[in-house]
Amino acid sequence: MKRQVPLGVLISGGGTNLQSIIDAIEAKRLDAVVRVVISNKESAYGLVRAKNHGIPTEVLDHKQFSSREAYDEAIVKLLHARGVELVILAGFMRLLSPVLVKAYSNRIMNIHPALLPAFPGLHGQKQAVEYGVRFAGCTVHFVNEECDQGPIIIQAIVPAYPDDTEETLAARILKQEHRIYPRAIQLYSEGRLRVEGRKVLVHGVEKDDAAALMNPPEGKR
Ligand code: GRF
Repeated sequence: MKRQVPLGVLISGGGTNLQSIIDAIEAKRLDAVVRVVISNKESAYGLVRAKNHGIPTEVLDHKQFSSREAYDEAIVKLLHARGVELVILAGFMRLLSPVLVKAYSNRIMNIHPALLPAFPGLHGQKQAVEYGVRFAGCTVHFVNEECDQGPIIIQAIVPAYPDDTEETLAARILKQEHRIYPRAIQLYSEGRLRVEGRKVLVHGVEKDDAAALMNPPEGKR
């Protein structure tokens, strides 16, 4: 049997990315096992999703801790106790301190709803709509100590249109998030990712020089 990478998923909200990971595991597209889902919010619907699939959950309210470091220490303890190897941030609305980043160096992934390094921080989709870009998308990256600046593993792009609202663009991007996050984790699981400085080398992928997109597309009215 293939190795199943033990995951710890950190959430704060709805958890549709968590769901896409659970679904990929159940469909045997992803060789991983979710050992624990941790939320900083008791009301996060992602906790219900986890329970529906028999996955252990923990709520760790950041307001009960005196510092970011103390909070992250508690998280690391929970992750170690569950034997977690790879940490997945899936809509976890907290900045990480070096305590957590160092404990899981190059073993924390995040998904961001923009084509980094464009539009980091909050409301990436809104920033893209307001800027008037023709393409938007999402990024899975390893987490380092700088917010949204870690080495990029995989990106997906979607067209953006002048009449997009934050909501229409976010929905288009979210569909791609659900494709690329399980894929990034599977690449890790297969041992195909190597971090070299700012770059992530992905073993065994073919290059396609013609894979270019244009928006508006050529020759269409
Ligand atoms: C996603 O848009 C993700 O890119 C961002 O937070 C949102 C989480 O959504 N980091 P969900 O909780 O996975 O539905």
